[in-house]
Amino acid sequence: MTRKEQIKSAYKLTGGHASFYDGMMTYSTLPGKAICRIVWNMDGEKNLRYLAEALSGVPEDFQGKLLEVPVGTGVLTMPVYREIPKAEITCLDYSADMMEAAKERAKSLGLENISFQQGDVGNLPFDDGSFDIVLSLNGFHAFPDKEAAYRETFRVLKPGGTFCGCFYIKDGNRRTDWFIRHLYVPKGFFTPPFETEETLRERLQAMYSEVSVTAVEGIGCFRCRK
Ligand SMILES: C[S@@+](CC[C@H](N)C(=O)[O-])C[C@H]1O[C@@H](n2cnc3c(N)ncnc32)[C@H](O)[C@@H]1O
Repeated sequence: MTRKEQIKSAYKLTGGHASFYDGMMTYSTLPGKAICRIVWNMDGEKNLRYLAEALSGVPEDFQGKLLEVPVGTGVLTMPVYREIPKAEITCLDYSADMMEAAKERAKSLGLENISFQQGDVGNLPFDDGSFDIVLSLNGFHAFPDKEAAYRETFRVLKPGGTFCGCFYIKDGNRRTDWFIRHLYVPKGFFTPPFETEETLRERLQAMYSEVSVTAVEGIGCFRCRK
């Protein structure tokens, strides 16, 4: 399966039983599609594009150690992990409830190469240089202590390892910025300060090499090497 097919299969995985959250993340339900279009100005093609870009740091035949933080409900990544059965995958999230859904999903797909750990990205329970890849999808806009999160994700990566993923960036789409400021921040879904495409690129260039940052509307996708 190609990476885009894997992502599309995540969309199908939610079927007609998707929670509101999963339906939104996978552009697969009516309310989910409405949020994607109204808040994020994203259609199915843009959704697919930003996810493919964010996941481009994970080789399709990857066999090393990967940390995903935060895993959330695992709706976006479990179908990807199904295609890399020789990889050793660790999933971490602060919320035991979100992670319970990810565990269920891994179980239903028969995945045996994944371990789950509850924890804080700002204080990761791993030794320095433990992972070949650290993947972070839609997390940094939610993390309360972003400096600690950048520090810790860097620390647990091996030299030469890949840090990749995506999150909300401001100035990518004015309507998105309005919703974030007036709804997502007051409700506590997202926590400022937020990066722009430019500040994210500068920050990563100061820590990593081979930095790639691309924006799809208000989502910044990144890939870099320690
Ligand atoms: C928007 S969800 C993204 C989940 C998943 N990566 C996705 O794209 O569907 C944000 C997640 O960040 C987690 N989170 C927030 N603060 C955290 C922290 N300090 N450490 C670890 N996870 C955290 C939340 O529990 C939530 O599951």
